[in-house]
Amino acid sequence: MLFLVTTDIGFETVLMEELRELEPSIRFIRVFSGRILFEAQPLSGILAALRSRIANNVYVVLHHFTNINSLDDIYKAVKSIDFTNVILPNESFAIRPERIGEHGFTSIDIGRVAGQAVIDSYLEARGIRLRVDLDNPDIEIYTELNRDKLYVALGITRTSLHKRGYRVFNHPAALKTTIACALLRIAGWTPGRPVLDPMCGGGTILIEAALASKGIEIPCFKLRELESNPVIDRVVPGALNAIKKLCREVSRDVRKRFIGIEINPRFAEGAVINAKSAGVDDMILFVVGDATKLLPRIVEVAEKELDLKLELSIFNPPYGQRMKPKDLENLYKGVVQLLRDLGFKRVVFITSAIDIAEKVLMELDPGPTKRLYVVHGTLPSYVYSIELS
Ligand SMILES: C[S@@+](CC[C@H](N)C(=O)[O-])C[C@H]1O[C@@H](n2cnc3c(N)ncnc32)[C@H](O)[C@@H]1O
Repeated sequence: MLFLVTTDIGFETVLMEELRELEPSIRFIRVFSGRILFEAQPLSGILAALRSRIANNVYVVLHHFTNINSLDDIYKAVKSIDFTNVILPNESFAIRPERIGEHGFTSIDIGRVAGQAVIDSYLEARGIRLRVDLDNPDIEIYTELNRDKLYVALGITRTSLHKRGYRVFNHPAALKTTIACALLRIAGWTPGRPVLDPMCGGGTILIEAALASKGIEIPCFKLRELESNPVIDRVVPGALNAIKKLCREVSRDVRKRFIGIEINPRFAEGAVINAKSAGVDDMILFVVGDATKLLPRIVEVAEKELDLKLELSIFNPPYGQRMKPKDLENLYKGVVQLLRDLGFKRVVFITSAIDIAEKVLMELDPGPTKRLYVVHGTLPSYVYSIELS
């Protein structure tokens, strides 16, 4: 069975690595701008995709076509597909169109033409006219035209997996949960290992680390949504049962292993609320204060009181929208320098303030540095991974 899984641009190889770990038998077919097409056995494939902590959306591909250049090509391609096995006559459907590349038409046009093709295909096969419901359809058909390639797929996730549902407090610059998990993986982090986020905002990175450490699986946050999607058990019988089984076992690890510092008390309070809502507040210590001043004391307390050896720091600092460039530079420099002086081994951070980050790294020369180009929201950014020496 063919699966299409999306992620944020730049994180494709990180997602592939994770998927391969979750299911070694996966065969990757194509990787392109935030999308991975892979082949796997139906049950192991759908479980790997939904258990991913880095994937955003998951689809089962019905068909893919090449050489699609016009709306007429789209109509003919979609109409050639037999939908009678995946949509029941009394069910409604909606096309979810997407378009990547230069075309002389819009994604709305794709939706309209593909929708008509589904109706006509079903009418011809069964003599029944399917109902369209754009707001609350039974079945979602994802139709993506990626340059001249057309993917027609069934929506397994209805909302992106990055929306875990635990975020009660919305930090104005919150990191996507899936990107937080990608950073953890880039850092070579393994569940249970201590992490320090010196600018933790609403706590996303630490909450995700704690969730993974407790073995709380991502589809468990989405159970109701997945259960309400009739397509899942239809295309992969037994999938829902297998997912429910995953949600029964949760480790009761209550040791504090993750430490966050946040200068704004309101955000720190929000982080505590989010961690509680995610069920992992027992594993995270949030401290209010300025990281450039508090770090030495925090590291000492972590070691003496919590028996924690902090060696890994992961964060997404402010990008400078509300800060003067000089202050931002001093913040980046102050934190990286302190982490090195305090004996941290690795620092991973994501920022779109690339000029400032590069200037600081040139001046500090903190150690071998890897850069991964990614798109954070709409912002071109780098993930820096530094081996401190
Ligand atoms: C981009 S946000 C982090 C968002 C966070 N990763 C999340 O998902 O909610 C950066 C945070 O750094 C905090 N910050 C800025 N300067 C700081 C400092 N000197 N010490 C601690 N936190 C600081 C800001 O208040 C802000 O909440």
